Amino acid sequence: MTVKQTIKRIIPIFVLKVLRKGKKRIADRRANYLQTKRFKRWFSRDDSTDKARVETRLAFDIHRLEKGLSHVDFRDGFGKGVLSEISKRMVLLEKVDPRFMENPLYLQGLAVLHEYQSRHKKDGYDLSEVESLFPVRIWNAAFEYQPGAPVNAGSFVMNALSKKDNLSKGFVELAEHRYSVREYSSEPVPQELLDKVYEVSMKTPSVCNRQATRVYQITDSERIMKALKIQGGFLGYAMPPVLLLVTSDIRAFMNNGERNEPFVDGGLFSMSLLYALEAYGLAACPLNAMFNLSQDRQTRELLDIPDYEFPVMYIAVGNFPESVPVCYSTRYEPEKIVTRI
Ligand SMILES: Cc1cc2nc3c(=O)[nH]c(=O)nc-3n(C[C@H](O)[C@H](O)[C@H](O)COP(=O)(O)O)c2cc1C
Repeated sequence: MTVKQTIKRIIPIFVLKVLRKGKKRIADRRANYLQTKRFKRWFSRDDSTDKARVETRLAFDIHRLEKGLSHVDFRDGFGKGVLSEISKRMVLLEKVDPRFMENPLYLQGLAVLHEYQSRHKKDGYDLSEVESLFPVRIWNAAFEYQPGAPVNAGSFVMNALSKKDNLSKGFVELAEHRYSVREYSSEPVPQELLDKVYEVSMKTPSVCNRQATRVYQITDSERIMKALKIQGGFLGYAMPPVLLLVTSDIRAFMNNGERNEPFVDGGLFSMSLLYALEAYGLAACPLNAMFNLSQDRQTRELLDIPDYEFPVMYIAVGNFPESVPVCYSTRYEPEKIVTRI
């Protein structure tokens, strides 16, 4: 008789079950702990100096500047704090990347700074204070940067007319021309259109077809304003006529191994919503639901979100105004992210 068989004979079944449960609980806690630990080991900190994490911070700040440049109501002299961060990361990138002049993020930095300089020059605004935030070489390189050569960053104006025939466009064209739009016309969004958007989004795959995603459609302007005030990532824009909150029902999951799946399935559903909104000619912008405890509590109270749901993300929705500035949000080349095994 093996040791295992002997133990099974001596220890009653119910005790074995309790022991197994305890072992599973310890393994689950360890998995949660190690996941958090791995995240903490690798996320990009303010004082990170390696290339990948400097690039993360630079991308974040370039996008913040792009958002300022894409405001309908452009404010001369905005963003000195962001500009100082961009300068700091570009200098760091020069140190850690020997080929920084080919680095897509370094070039995006030059491109976004170029737009910042030219827009202010056009307005006759004195940029000497901003100029002093940058080493002369970077400031001058941005000045000489030819937009689009080889990368773009900053903003451009999109016209509503270009969206007129979206329903008849193929997927590639639709996907290539979708941009986050943060300012909308004042017309209300027809409910029939939103219903069509939900209908097609239901085709989103989910783990074992468990369809855990839930969508809260908010059209009450007061609640939209309160929700976005708590969210904090949409400041300075007029309120959208519709705000969707995508959540995931945790009751659709079965064990700790599935703890990240609510966000995977909710993320996939959100992308379907974004493409469906684009196809039906509606403007949209995903907005994070990375709530701290206080934001989480306040949002649950405001929108009556049950305890068994995780917020995944918001999506602001509206009609395209005749024309609207949007951010380039330039993407990497696929070769940077694809590993062929
Ligand atoms: C999960 C998620 C959260 C986002 N949160 C915000 C946000 O809080 N505020 C904002 O203005 N944009 C937000 N965005 C929009 C991104 O900035 C935008 O999708 C990105 O720059 C790519 O640009 P594109 O959507 O125009 O292709 C978010 C996007 C995603 C996917």
